[in-house]
Amino acid sequence: MTLPPILQGRLRLPLIGAPLFIISHPALVIAQARAGVVGAFPALNARPAAQLDDWLSEIAEALRAPGPDGRQPAPFAVNQIVHRSNTRLEADLAVCVRHKVPIVITSLGAVEEVNQAVHSYGGIVLHDVINDRFAHKAIEKGADGLVAVAAGAGGHAGTLSPFALVAEIRRWFDGPLFLSGAIATGAGILAAQAAGADGAYVGSAFIATEEARADERYKAAIVAGRTQDIVYSNLFTGIHGNYLRASIEAAGLDPEHLPTSDPSKMDFGADGGAKAWRDIWGAGQGIGSIDAVTSVAALVDRLAAEYDTARARLALR
Ligand SMILES: Cc1cc2nc3c(=O)[nH]c(=O)nc-3n(C[C@H](O)[C@H](O)[C@H](O)COP(=O)(O)O)c2cc1C
Repeated sequence: MTLPPILQGRLRLPLIGAPLFIISHPALVIAQARAGVVGAFPALNARPAAQLDDWLSEIAEALRAPGPDGRQPAPFAVNQIVHRSNTRLEADLAVCVRHKVPIVITSLGAVEEVNQAVHSYGGIVLHDVINDRFAHKAIEKGADGLVAVAAGAGGHAGTLSPFALVAEIRRWFDGPLFLSGAIATGAGILAAQAAGADGAYVGSAFIATEEARADERYKAAIVAGRTQDIVYSNLFTGIHGNYLRASIEAAGLDPEHLPTSDPSKMDFGADGGAKAWRDIWGAGQGIGSIDAVTSVAALVDRLAAEYDTARARLALR
């Protein structure tokens, strides 16, 4: 159990700012890395595809030098959706290889060639999984580490308890493991480590930041929302995920009686599937801990203070 070498001594908190479709863009990623946590964005957010090259140059340039506080920024990550409908995968991966992106996070499919391409220049691959079976597959195909996406995570999410999922994976895997799902406090980050993960993977909390590329009404709904405002459905993309109830109602649908869909509806083609995500807002069950829209730096400050308090509280027992 340990952070991958690329992250050792580089983080203020053991935390990856998770990739968020439409929402993550260079300003958010740069702010996250400058605040001392890994910043990540889905390659599909760069649109048209040619923009990926510009974004990677912009991020690398911004993170080259230490920040105003003298701190060396944390590394960043690019998320690749490895699914047959993602027609950009090969080209986007080639751009990432050219830019030597330090961390690639793969979702939905584990493919050996993708891992080999990232290893060719010394990068690492973290693959996100919702169960132990997919975790085995990912490591067999050559991923370096895992993101365990447990119940309550924003966007596509599993249904497993974080305790059960991490414990099962830790029975056979001692490499880098991050835990995801409804973590929005410093105590939650420490709990992920206590459960056996090397760090936490947090998405929804970063939607309510000034740097996030999200509608102000979406940010306000995250601030106002609680667990009861989250609905789990596969209607919008063909895969089960968590969404804000108010956005479903605003689309004229009854959140209590949503029809079901199936995985054949998954489509990362022409617009990367943006239609579904623009009006129906993804969010995880942890949003009850988010009280305001702040800068990324202020959010990371809060998480770091809470993390220290939680550690001190446990040490006192
Ligand atoms: C609006 C939204 C968009 C997301 N888009 C992606 C994505 O493009 N690729 C991906 O791998 N995960 C995506 N996720 C999942 C996150 O990377 C992460 O697993 C999740 O946000 C963690 O749970 P939390 O939101 O409760 O912190 C998305 C999540 C949300 C809320």
